[in-house]
Amino acid sequence: MTPVVEANGARIPLLGLGTWELRGRTCARIVEQALRLGYRHVDTAQIYDNEEEVGDAVRASGVKRDQVFLTTKIWPSHFAPRDLERSAKESLVRLRMPEVDLLLLHWPNPHVPLAETLGALCKVKREGLARHIGISNFTVAMVEEAVRLSSEPLVCNQVEVHPFLDQTKVVAACRRHALAVVAYSPIARGQAARDQTLIEIGKAHGKSAVQVGLRWLVQQDIVVIPRTAKVERLSTNAAIFDFTLAPEEMARIGALAHPRGRVVNYSYSGAPEWD
Ligand SMILES: NC(=O)c1ccc[n+]([C@@H]2O[C@H](COP(=O)([O-])OP(=O)(O)OC[C@H]3O[C@@H](n4cnc5c(N)ncnc54)[C@H](OP(=O)(O)O)[C@@H]3O)[C@@H](O)[C@H]2O)c1
Repeated sequence: MTPVVEANGARIPLLGLGTWELRGRTCARIVEQALRLGYRHVDTAQIYDNEEEVGDAVRASGVKRDQVFLTTKIWPSHFAPRDLERSAKESLVRLRMPEVDLLLLHWPNPHVPLAETLGALCKVKREGLARHIGISNFTVAMVEEAVRLSSEPLVCNQVEVHPFLDQTKVVAACRRHALAVVAYSPIARGQAARDQTLIEIGKAHGKSAVQVGLRWLVQQDIVVIPRTAKVERLSTNAAIFDFTLAPEEMARIGALAHPRGRVVNYSYSGAPEWD
């Protein structure tokens, strides 16, 4: 059983499967296999172009729908209220599901007033299309604004978090409002596997560098959604709940952050969102 974090009424499994860049049969096979192996949380998005395969894989896995925590994300070009509602419904058609567990705003869109977008997101939730709602790629100031403007509880902010990036400020902002932090790119797109400190700490625990990096996150109650296209990596990426890092190991890993640590430099608006 994967441990969960509780956040504003949601129970989010601490380990999920990321699906960016997984498409077609590879996506369907990996998602189905992950669920068979015990994953209970899957992360997709409209822009990943794989909602159909993810929905099919959930059904093919044989795991009951209410045992799987499924997230999708609305692309910012659909943030005008009527577009948001329509595109949320289109996601459900592609997934062939009456609701998702979590519906996120994928990136902030400065061209549409946040109050209007959040109004539509809350309406979609009240209509039963999403059990929970949240945000992604929101900075500290944006988290504060979103919490103030939302009439329904926001349950998470999904942001890039891994040992090479200092995200303490945005993590603290989320905690202040009881939002879960969901770490995307938790393996830093493969970089964690090559880090000497993580490799060294792993040796002491009989674990790989990637497992140590993921453990560092879940030990802080940060949800991780590592992606792999390799079936054999699904189990190893999930074997992170049977060991504990000592406080000095946690601190050593926390000290790996550096100013160029971000691996996702994309910004929907083109503006330097993070500065
Ligand atoms: N909200 C957002 O804006 C946003 C942005 C980015 C990502 N995300 C979400 O977060 C998920 C995860 O992030 P990500 O896909 O960017 O990167 P990631 O999970 O940090 O890294 C994925 C990469 O790591 C490799 N990998 C996986 N397990 C490994 C292991 N045990 N040893 C060595 N390498 C390993 C994978 O290669 P193989 O496939 O060869 O194993 C893949 O190249 C995404 O899939 C997506 O669902 C959200």
